[in-house]
Amino acid sequence: MSKVIENGEQYVMRTYGRFPVVLDHGDGVYLYDENGKKYLDMYAGIAVNALGYNHPKLTETLQEQVKKMLHVSNYYYTKELVEAAKLIVENSIFDKVFFCNSGAEANEAALKLAKKYGKSKSENKTQIIAMKKSFHGRTHGALALTGQEKYQKSFMPLVPNIQYAEYNNLESVKALINENTCAVILEVIQGEGGIIPGTKEFLQGVEKLCKENDALLMIDEVQTGIGRTGTLFAFEQMGIKPDVVSMAKGLGGGVPIGAMACSEKANVLVPGDHASTFGGNPLVTAAAEVVLTELTQNGLLDQVKEVGAYLREQLLALKETFDCVVDVRGYGLMQGIELTIPALDVEKKCIEKGLLLVGAGEKVVRFVPPLIITKEHVDEAMSILKEVLAES
Ligand SMILES: Cc1ncc(COP(=O)(O)O)c(C=O)c1O
Repeated sequence: MSKVIENGEQYVMRTYGRFPVVLDHGDGVYLYDENGKKYLDMYAGIAVNALGYNHPKLTETLQEQVKKMLHVSNYYYTKELVEAAKLIVENSIFDKVFFCNSGAEANEAALKLAKKYGKSKSENKTQIIAMKKSFHGRTHGALALTGQEKYQKSFMPLVPNIQYAEYNNLESVKALINENTCAVILEVIQGEGGIIPGTKEFLQGVEKLCKENDALLMIDEVQTGIGRTGTLFAFEQMGIKPDVVSMAKGLGGGVPIGAMACSEKANVLVPGDHASTFGGNPLVTAAAEVVLTELTQNGLLDQVKEVGAYLREQLLALKETFDCVVDVRGYGLMQGIELTIPALDVEKKCIEKGLLLVGAGEKVVRFVPPLIITKEHVDEAMSILKEVLAES
């Protein structure tokens, strides 16, 4: 056994079931392990490495920033912080941005903002509606928003006053929402829940219910956002205008950053309400600036749309060929195939053959590659996947 794995088992807390691979470095959309074995990366550290590995502009920007300064504090402005916020605002419907360090933290911020918004209207307006099968993160508040018993059961009691509606079932939201609801939170595609896209009808219906009840519509774009579905935010394709959005994962291209953006109407947090020591520090916001610029000014969004459509064609062809593939879901570079066999078995066989994929639930294999992949990379992934499915 590798010494790294042996030491890892001794010293690292077992909060993850890790594959027995020690990754060493990456280049483009390929990763290399400690023995020099090459892997095509179709999961980008779970939808994170938007620009792949060792991207020239991102690497150079980070190297320069390391020499300038790593961290100051939010008691001062930095050019990097402001530029990243400006890029988000100028390329979205939002007016203000709060930076933090992860998706869960972005949702924690959204949760507090929603409560404050509700309380500014009436003392009892604190109910939040989230969705069953959702995923919003592992901290107490974000976990309370996550409508999946398997994640919550060992950690009760969580944050109170959160109720769960059925995703894509407007009647179930209607049955819960009332004047005491301060916010509804949902994903445009439920990611960890198994790559379940929300329908336009449902999302527009929820938006209308929120307006009628003066509740904030909060969209969690931690996984779907930052270009993953072919638009900067996936909600843009759904004809809705949320009040709040959370983002993280791809935003820093691999450095830890999260953010919450909101419209002026929802801009209720003031000094003292919320904070984060590291949030928006110059290192991570310099990275975000590069990622956002690549997406919005250098044509990467168009590439995602084109390669995403190609990936979909290839996955639909797999479904025609293999009986064990029963569904293809998602769009852009966030897609999944539902299988009749365990996703983990397929992932393990793919790793052996040099392809990295990630599951979303027990039977769904997910494709969330670096946004820079090309059709040729998709072909390479498909040829490995076909071999594995033929043997399964
Ligand atoms: C939709 C969504 N929200 C929130 C999170 C939590 O993000 P993080 O792991 O950065 O806290 C995730 C992570 O998978 C996610 O997919």
